[in-house]
Amino acid sequence: MLRKALERVLELPAVYDLNQFIGQPTVRRYTQLLVEEVPLGAETKVLDLGCGTGATRKLIPGHYVGIDINPDYVASAKRIRSGGEFIAMDATKLSFPDASFDQVISVATTHHLDGEQLQAMALEALRVVRPGGAFHIIDAILPVNPRDRAKDMFFRMDRGRFPRKLEDLVATVSRAAGVARTRVLNGPMHDVAYLKVVGA
Ligand SMILES: C[S@@+](CC[C@H](N)C(=O)[O-])C[C@H]1O[C@@H](n2cnc3c(N)ncnc32)[C@H](O)[C@@H]1O
Repeated sequence: MLRKALERVLELPAVYDLNQFIGQPTVRRYTQLLVEEVPLGAETKVLDLGCGTGATRKLIPGHYVGIDINPDYVASAKRIRSGGEFIAMDATKLSFPDASFDQVISVATTHHLDGEQLQAMALEALRVVRPGGAFHIIDAILPVNPRDRAKDMFFRMDRGRFPRKLEDLVATVSRAAGVARTRVLNGPMHDVAYLKVVGA
């Protein structure tokens, strides 16, 4: 019951932003992986799946479209972020035409999706990305070192119900698509993984 109440409070955009602020060490790792792994230029058209209140917007120099299932987050993103488009949409059922983005990204969202939803998101991402682009997943994972009990416990308390080890994340995505590259950054609060997802 306490968990449910906490989750409802976290649905509020302002509380969510505060939570992101507290999680800065993890957010810094998301940023590093995004900047180092995703090819981004002034003309690159990027779709961000599970954009929340739009924190990633400022890292994208080109055209940005963010979608999120929570309309309150989308409304907040429209208010506080400059440039880009924010749309309330389910990442597993995108309404964009085929091959309409250069790159598709998803930051800190896979642990909110069960296996079927994650596979559906990957297939949709690959449908809307142009040939030569990729779907770039960046998310916290259960600690690489199983003795990191505190980190393990911390992530399991997250409101996302599907925390995964790197190998589980890769195996789940691989049932629907190809995983061309993986990379992990260890952090004090979470380890963070990058997956480059391409057609199977
Ligand atoms: C931890 S937040 C990350 C938000 C943002 N990417 C960031 O880094 O600040 C996870 C987001 O996934 C969104 N989400 C969960 N399931 C979704 C779905 N099926 N389609 C789109 N967004 C979803 C949630 O509403 C939430 O905003």
